[in-house]
Amino acid sequence: MRTGHGVESYQTERLRKDGSLVSILLSVSPLRDRKGTVIGASAIARDVTAKIRAEQALQRSEKLATAGRLTAAIAHEINNPLEAITNLLYLARRDPTRAEQHMEMAEREVQRIADIAQQTLGFVREVSEAKSLNVAETLDEVLQLYSPKFMSGHIELQKEFEEDCEVQGFSGELRQLFSNLIVNAVDAMPGGGRLRVRVSRTHEPDGRGRAGVRVTVADTGIGIPAADRPRLFEPFYTTKKDSGTGLGLWLSEGIVRKHEGTIQVRTSTQPGRSGTIFSLFLPQNS
Ligand SMILES: Nc1ncnc2c1ncn2[C@@H]1O[C@H](COP(=O)(O)OP(=O)(O)OP(=O)(O)O)[C@@H](O)[C@H]1O
Ligand SMILES: [Mg+2]
Repeated sequence: MRTGHGVESYQTERLRKDGSLVSILLSVSPLRDRKGTVIGASAIARDVTAKIRAEQALQRSEKLATAGRLTAAIAHEINNPLEAITNLLYLARRDPTRAEQHMEMAEREVQRIADIAQQTLGFVREVSEAKSLNVAETLDEVLQLYSPKFMSGHIELQKEFEEDCEVQGFSGELRQLFSNLIVNAVDAMPGGGRLRVRVSRTHEPDGRGRAGVRVTVADTGIGIPAADRPRLFEPFYTTKKDSGTGLGLWLSEGIVRKHEGTIQVRTSTQPGRSGTIFSLFLPQNS
């Protein structure tokens, strides 16, 4: 203070006469005489109790919003395996010769739900470690789950799978990612259409040129209007008022990021040739 510098204001607490505490912001600055010599100090105390209360209330409401988001995310992740189990039970009943196989797949989906519950309790996304897995096989399993949906929705499925498409990854989360993209594609083709899925070995075109696997999911659906494109990966962004949570792509992007991959979208709303292609790159070693 004697050198003529002001003290940065700082926050502190003082006791009121009635005994209650008051938060104040204290700023102290030097007082000078005409020649500029420091002759004293002035202190300004501002009561900031109300401001601090408002900040605390905001923090609390943000925490609540986070809890709400988390709940919605869990519901979303559980919904896909539940739908898969429903489909598999239907298939098992219709075709008793393959019931065993369908039951086995249903069991895995039940395990997936158990994993989600476990992870939620532990607050970590995937408990296990990344393992070597075949992307084409994983995607094919998901496609099988949705075969009743393709049939009833008049959707023709085209698969182009290369062999040996292995990556280090989390199979449960990749299944979740693929189902989100497939369900979105189906939703975009209410009157039927063609779903083309491809898996191939590749190198990243730019950046580090890493070896990995490219997955594309292409539909002949309605496409995404230009105005909506920047918001696709935002949480809760949905155009499906009654049925969507808008968490599918947001969760998917998180899964891709966890695998150190990339996700891109190309889309057209041009009548007669509309459709959307989601293209993923998953590096071999993430
Ligand atoms: N293949 C697609 N074709 C056309 N629009 C799409 C496609 N994929 C996503 N969208 C658009 O992006 C929005 C967000 O997708 P996202 O998967 O995040 O949420 P949602 O599908 O609406 O809800 P949820 O996934 O919870 O069921 C969709 O509402 C839709 O408008
Ligand atoms: Mg979706």
